[in-house]
Amino acid sequence: MDQVVAGNRAVWEQASTKHVREYDELLEEAQGDGVLFPREKELLAPVLAKQPLVVHFQSGHGLDDVALVKAGARRVVSVDYSSVAAGAAQRRARELDVDCRYVVAEVPGVPVRDASADLVYTGKGALIWMRDIDAWAQDVARVVRPGGHLFVYESHPAVPLWSWDQDEPRIRPDRSYFAKSHINDTFPANGAQEWQWTLGQVVTAISNAGLQLQVLEEYPEPFWRPQDDTSAAAWSGRLPNSYALLAQRPL
Ligand SMILES: C[S@@+](CC[C@H](N)C(=O)[O-])C[C@H]1O[C@@H](n2cnc3c(N)ncnc32)[C@H](O)[C@@H]1O
Repeated sequence: MDQVVAGNRAVWEQASTKHVREYDELLEEAQGDGVLFPREKELLAPVLAKQPLVVHFQSGHGLDDVALVKAGARRVVSVDYSSVAAGAAQRRARELDVDCRYVVAEVPGVPVRDASADLVYTGKGALIWMRDIDAWAQDVARVVRPGGHLFVYESHPAVPLWSWDQDEPRIRPDRSYFAKSHINDTFPANGAQEWQWTLGQVVTAISNAGLQLQVLEEYPEPFWRPQDDTSAAAWSGRLPNSYALLAQRPL
């Protein structure tokens, strides 16, 4: 494993202890309505109706996995390089009796068979940890079967630029949309090196890997609010904060 990636992994092992400390709260959340956003459910409905085998790249706390099973997935195989995150998620899945299996491994290089997934699901803070977006897209295209789908629900690549001022949105002077990377300065992965992939780079990587784009929607709402008790002006509806993407591997 590359040194920077190994450093990020160490940060995530530490950050993921939150999933253990807050195990009961997360268990309760998983038992509730689920964490999939309404639009996400709408976009995924036709795929989930076919009871897909899902491979989740970078599954974190795993609440998405429980929600995917509740929404129709036959089984979810989840991959994350944090053994702490995967361990807590596996314990929760067992307790809830949902068919989710957790594998500790690096993305890309996911240790599942070629063409074994009906759906590769990922996002909510995943792509910024990929140091090579083309290698990531190639791995997705390898894992998904012909006719299967990739679904991404992600933070908008412009988000690193937004300040969290409450009076009006401002562009951070230390950031560029076209920078290659920056050091994360928010919880939970504070200190880790994030990579920046523009929307054009993400779409081009997916297309070059042989997948066909079906949906690309941008939203003003963030999928996560780093400062829960405040309301940043950047979240008031004028700026992009998240996006969803659905692509299919041709038959
Ligand atoms: C912000 S979480 C997002 C995951 C999930 N959607 C969630 O909300 O918990 C990012 C996850 O990616 C994992 N991760 C980061 N880089 C990775 C890599 N190269 N390979 C595998 N997992 C990685 C981290 O361990 C972390 O659990």
